[in-house]
Amino acid sequence: MYDITNFNEYQAEYKKSVENPELFWAEKAAQFSWKEKWNEVLKWNFSEPKVEWFIGGKLNITENCLDRHLKNNPNKTAIIWEPNNPNEQSQTISYKELHERVCRFANVLKKNGAKKGDRICIYMPMVPELAVAVLACARIGAIHSVVFGGFSFHSLADRINDADCNMVITADGAYRGAKEILLKAVVDEAVIHCNTVNRVIVLHRTGCEINMQPNRDVWWHEEEKNVNSNCDAEIMDSEDILFILYTSGSTGKPKGVVHTCGGYMVYTAYTFKNVFQYKADDIYWCTADVGWITGHSYLIYGPLLNGATTVMFEGIPTFPDAGRFWKVIDKHNVSIFYTAPTAIRSLEACGLNYVAPYKLSSLRILGTVGEPINEEAWHWYNKNIGKEKCPIVDTWWQTETGGIMISPLAGITKTKPSYATLPLPGVQPVLLDESGNEITGNNAEGRLCIKFPWPSIIRTTFKNHDRCRETYFSVFKNYYFTGDGCKRDGNGYYRITGRVDDVIKVSGHLLGTAEIENAINQHKNIVESAVVGFPHDIKGWGIYAYVITENKPENTEELKKEIVATVTKYMGAIAKPDKIQIVSGLPKTRSGKIMRRILRKIAENEIGNLGDTSTLLDPTVVDEIIKNRIN
Ligand code: WT7
Repeated sequence: MYDITNFNEYQAEYKKSVENPELFWAEKAAQFSWKEKWNEVLKWNFSEPKVEWFIGGKLNITENCLDRHLKNNPNKTAIIWEPNNPNEQSQTISYKELHERVCRFANVLKKNGAKKGDRICIYMPMVPELAVAVLACARIGAIHSVVFGGFSFHSLADRINDADCNMVITADGAYRGAKEILLKAVVDEAVIHCNTVNRVIVLHRTGCEINMQPNRDVWWHEEEKNVNSNCDAEIMDSEDILFILYTSGSTGKPKGVVHTCGGYMVYTAYTFKNVFQYKADDIYWCTADVGWITGHSYLIYGPLLNGATTVMFEGIPTFPDAGRFWKVIDKHNVSIFYTAPTAIRSLEACGLNYVAPYKLSSLRILGTVGEPINEEAWHWYNKNIGKEKCPIVDTWWQTETGGIMISPLAGITKTKPSYATLPLPGVQPVLLDESGNEITGNNAEGRLCIKFPWPSIIRTTFKNHDRCRETYFSVFKNYYFTGDGCKRDGNGYYRITGRVDDVIKVSGHLLGTAEIENAINQHKNIVESAVVGFPHDIKGWGIYAYVITENKPENTEELKKEIVATVTKYMGAIAKPDKIQIVSGLPKTRSGKIMRRILRKIAENEIGNLGDTSTLLDPTVVDEIIKNRIN
C-alpha cells in the first residue's frame, strides 16, 4: 500500500488520490504511530486560507523517527556523519544512540526552561548535534527555527525577532572548506538586537575563542552532564506547529513558513519512500544544509521516518578538492545521492579528472532539487556520475510545500532532461493564464498553481496570516500560487521554467531582491539600489545591482569591493552581488516605482527589446544605464 513499484500502480494511486484524497491519505497516515487517532481527515478552504489534516490526531514525530525503529532495528545506522576535514574521523550513529542523544538533549532544553510552543532558533554547523537539536525540540514540542549558518547577524536577528525565540542553539565555530566561521560571534552580534533571547546553548566544535555571557550562555557538554536520557515525547496535536522556516519573498522581510506535525510527517515519509524508491539497505545522501527545507524534509525527517541511513556532510563540494562528493560516495557506499544543479554545474566545470579516481559503483539513484537543471548538466550527471545506470529524479517543490510535489519516481517514471515530469499522488497542479483561467490540455504554458491541499502544505506565515493569504492564496482565487512559471509538454510532463516574482534563485538559494537592496543600502555612500537577476552559467542566476551613490566615489573598484563586503557582513556571502553598476538614476514610473522589467532586460543584455519606456519619469536614464552596462 505504501510503495509504488511500477507505473500502473502510480497511475492507480494517482487516480485514487484525486477521487478520494481523504481515504488515500488516511491509509498512508495509518502506518505511523499515533497516540490518538484523528477523527476527521481534512478540512480546508483556500480563501482564509485554513487547511487542517488528521484533525484531532495526537502524535510526536520523534517517536515515529526514533522509538518506532528501536524494537526491530536498534543498531541500524541512522546517521553517517562525514566531517569537513577528510582526515577527521567520520561517525556512525545508530538509531538507539540517536534516540538516547535526542532524549538527553531534550532534557537539557527543559532544564534550561524550554517548553512546548516556545520558539528555539538553531544556528549551527552541519554536525550530528544539529540533527539532535532539531529532534530534541520536536521531542518536547518546542518549535524549531533553523537559520542557515551562512547567514550573517542581521538576517539571523531578523529571524530570531520575527519568531520571538527565547533560546538560541549554536556552536563556537564552524568549518566550511578551508575557512573557519565564527558562529558564536555572529550570534552575539545578533542577540544585541533581540531582547526575547534569554539562553544561548553553545556546542564545542572548533575550539575558537568565544565570549560566554554569564546568565545567558551555557555549554552543551556541561549541560548534558546534569541530565539523564529518559524523556517522554510531548503529545502533540496533529495541527500543532512543528517548525518555522524562513524563506525570502518580494518584500525585504523574510516569511516564517509554518509546518505542522501530522501532515508534514505523513507527506515527507511517503514522498521520500516513493520518489527515491528507498529500500532498507540503501545509504542515502542529501547534500543540502539543514538550514534549508531540503535538509529538514529529506536529510532528517523523511529518511528517519523510514528508518533509513542518512549521510550528513559538514563540508563543501570543493574541499579539499572538487572530487570530494565522489570520494564520499565511494567511502560510504552511497546508493542514493540527492544534490543541487548548481553543485553539479560547478563540479562539471572543474573537469573529469576529479571524477575519474572514483568507482561510484554503489550508486543506484540520483536526484536534483532547488532550481531547474539544464539539459547539459543533466547529461553530464547522468553520464559521468550515474554511468547511465541511475535514474535521475528532478524534484520540484518549495519551502512552502514541505515535500516533493512534481517528480519522477525513480526507475518508474520515464525521465526527460530538465522536466520534473509528473505530479506525485495527492498533488493537483494546474496552469493558469494571467487572468487566472485554467489552461487545460497539453502543450501549454502558464503560472503553476495547485488546486487541492496536500498534507504538508504551508499553514500560515508565522504571526502574519494576511501575508500568507496575500502571497499564496489571493493572486488566483481558490488556488495555491507557487510563484513559478511552468510548461506542460505533449505528454503532460511539467517543466518548471523559473520564478515570475521578485525573488531570484542564486545557486539554488531563494533571495528577495528587496532584501539584497536593504543590505546594499547599509553602505554609507549608497542612496538607492535596485537588484535583478541575470542568467549565470554555474549559479543559475547571478545578482546584478544598480546603485546610486551619494558622493561620487574616488575609486569605483574600491567602492564595489566595499559594497560586496557590506552585503556579506549584513546578510551573508550568498547574497553578494556579481555585478555592480553605478548609475545616476533608476528607471521609475511617474508614481516612483522602479521598472525592474527594464533593468532585468539590460542585465540580460536584451537591449533591443526593452518594451515601452515612454511612461518613465526620465527616459534618458535608460540610455545612460545601457551605455555603462557591465558585461
Ligand atoms: C523554488 C523553491 C525545493 C526545495 C529547495 C528549494 C525552484 C525547486 C526545482 C526544480 C525547477 C525548482 C522553484 C521553486 N525549484 N526545485 N526541480 N526545477 N525549479 O526551496 O528555496 O523554497 O525554493 O525553487 O522556483 O519555487 P525554496
